[in-house]
Amino acid sequence: SATSQPHRTGYHFQPPKNWMNDPNGPMIYKGIYHLFYQYNPKGAVWGNIVWAHSTSRDLVNWTPQKVAIYPSQPSDIDGAWSGSATIFPDGTPAMLFTGINPTGQQVQNLAMPKNPSDPYLLEWVKSPKNPVMAPTPENQINASSFRDPTTAWLGADGRWKVVIGSRINRKGLAYLYRSKDFVYWIKAKTLLHSAEDTGMWECVDFFPVSVNSSVGVDMLSILGPNVKYVFKASLDDTKHDYYTVGEYDPVKDVYTPDEGSVDGDSGLRYDYGKFYASKSFFDSAKNRMILWGWINESSSVSDDIKKGWSGIQAIPRVIWLDKSGKQLLQWPIKEIEMLRTNAVHLPRKVLQGGSVLEVPRVTAAQADVEITFKVSHFRKAEGLDPSWTNPQLLCSQKGASVRGSLGPFGLLVFASKGMQEYTSVFFRIFKGQNKYVVLMCSDQSRSSLNPDNDKTTYGAFVDVDPVHEHLSLRSLIDHSVVESFGGQGKSCMTARVYPILAINEDAHLHAFNNGSKSVTITRLSAWSMKKANIN
Ligand code: FRU
Repeated sequence: SATSQPHRTGYHFQPPKNWMNDPNGPMIYKGIYHLFYQYNPKGAVWGNIVWAHSTSRDLVNWTPQKVAIYPSQPSDIDGAWSGSATIFPDGTPAMLFTGINPTGQQVQNLAMPKNPSDPYLLEWVKSPKNPVMAPTPENQINASSFRDPTTAWLGADGRWKVVIGSRINRKGLAYLYRSKDFVYWIKAKTLLHSAEDTGMWECVDFFPVSVNSSVGVDMLSILGPNVKYVFKASLDDTKHDYYTVGEYDPVKDVYTPDEGSVDGDSGLRYDYGKFYASKSFFDSAKNRMILWGWINESSSVSDDIKKGWSGIQAIPRVIWLDKSGKQLLQWPIKEIEMLRTNAVHLPRKVLQGGSVLEVPRVTAAQADVEITFKVSHFRKAEGLDPSWTNPQLLCSQKGASVRGSLGPFGLLVFASKGMQEYTSVFFRIFKGQNKYVVLMCSDQSRSSLNPDNDKTTYGAFVDVDPVHEHLSLRSLIDHSVVESFGGQGKSCMTARVYPILAINEDAHLHAFNNGSKSVTITRLSAWSMKKANIN
C-alpha cells in the first residue's frame, strides 16, 4: 500500500516486486506495445535473469504477461540477457538476445514468435541454430564482453546488419555482423564504430533520425534521404548513456560521428542523472521514435531488499534531432498526459530574489509540472570561470542553497512542510566568453533524512539562449523519482529520492528563486497525476 510502500511509483513502469534492469525488445505489433525487461523472478537484487513481458495499448497502462524468454538451451542456460526486436518487411518480429552459455561465454541467440497471428506474442521459440553469433579463437572476441544485439536493418544488398557491443581492454567496440537469412551471421572485417578509452559498450543503439522534422524513421528506411544517424553506447564504468550524431556509409557499413560530436564521457548524454541501458524503437502507429530507459535505485541494497523491489523504467520519451543537427531533443510521450487531473495554472508572476512560491492543490508526490521563466538583469550575471567545464561538479559546488545572482531558480519537489527535506531542480545563468550559459542542476543533497541513499548532485549545460528564449522546465514527479526536462527537452536529468517526511499527502511542491535578482514566471502549470494501471 501507499503507506507501507511510499516510494513505489504511481505511473512509472515497474513489476509488482523484485529486480528489474534493462528494457528489452520494445516494439509495437498489431497495435499492441510490447515491453520486455531484464528481471530476477527470485529477488530484489540482480541475478537469475529472464525476459519478463508486459503489453499495452497506450504505453501508459500495462498488463503483465508470462515470462517470454528464459534459460532453456545451452546457449542461454546461465541467463537471458539484453537484446532487441527487428520487424521483418512482412511485419513479423524476431528477437536477438545475449545468452550466457555453460562456460560463461556471452553468445547471441535468435527467438521467433510461436504464433505470429497472436498480437500478444506470448510464446517465443528459440532457433535450433543457437547461438547464431559466438566468440571463437579465430575471431578474437572477448567472451566476457560481447553482448546486447541491436535492432537489425536491411542493406540495399539484401543482407541484414546488426551490431554487438564489446571492448578490447579500454577500447569500446561495435562489431557488425551480416546475414542473408537472419540465422547464419558473418562478422564483418570492419567495425561499425569504435572509440578509445571508453570501456565496455553495453546496449549499443544505432538508428536514423530525420534532419528536418520530428517524425521518426523506420529502421527499414534507414538508407533513405534526409537522415542522420545516432549511435548510443551505455558505459559500464560511469553507468550513463552517451550518444553521438553522425553519418553512416551503407556500403562500407561504417559510422562516423560528426565533427564536434564525441564518444565517451565528454560527449552528450541522453540524461545527466540516472538513465541507463536505453533502447529506441520506431512506433509505426504514430511515426515517432520512442526511447525506453532503465532508472536504477539510489537506495542501499539492504533497503531494496527490505522494500522488495529495485528498478523502474523512465516514462517513454519521443526523440528527434534538434534543428541545430547537433543534439537530440526528448519529450515524454503525449499519452502520459491522459493521467493529468485537477490542473493548476498560476498567473504570470515576478519571483523576487530569495522567495518561495508554493504550488497549491496538487498531489505533489505524484505530479507533472511545467514552469517557464523569463530572465532579465543580464548585466548582473555571474562570470563563468573558463575552468568550470564540468557542469555536474559546478552544480555540486553551487547547490540550491548557494545564493547567486541569476539563479538558482526552479522547483523544490518532494518538500516537507518544515523544509527538512526537499529536492531542487533549478537553473543558474552565467556570463560566458561571448554568450550567456545556462546551467541546469538536480540537487538531491537534502532529499531525505535517511542517510543511506546516494544523494549525488547532477548537472548539465542547456544549449538555449536565455536572452532571446524563455527558459522552461518540466518535471515528472512520482514518489521516488523526478524526471526533469530542461529547455524543451534539450537537457534531461532523472533523480531517485526517498523522502521520509515528504511522502504521499505530506509532500509539497514550490517554485523558488534563491538568486539576488528577480525572475519572472511566465507560465506555471501543474497537474495531479492519476495512477496508471501497471502490471
Ligand atoms: C546492462 C547489462 C547488459 C546485459 C544486462 C544483464 O545493464 O549489463 O549489458 O545484457 O544488463 O542483465
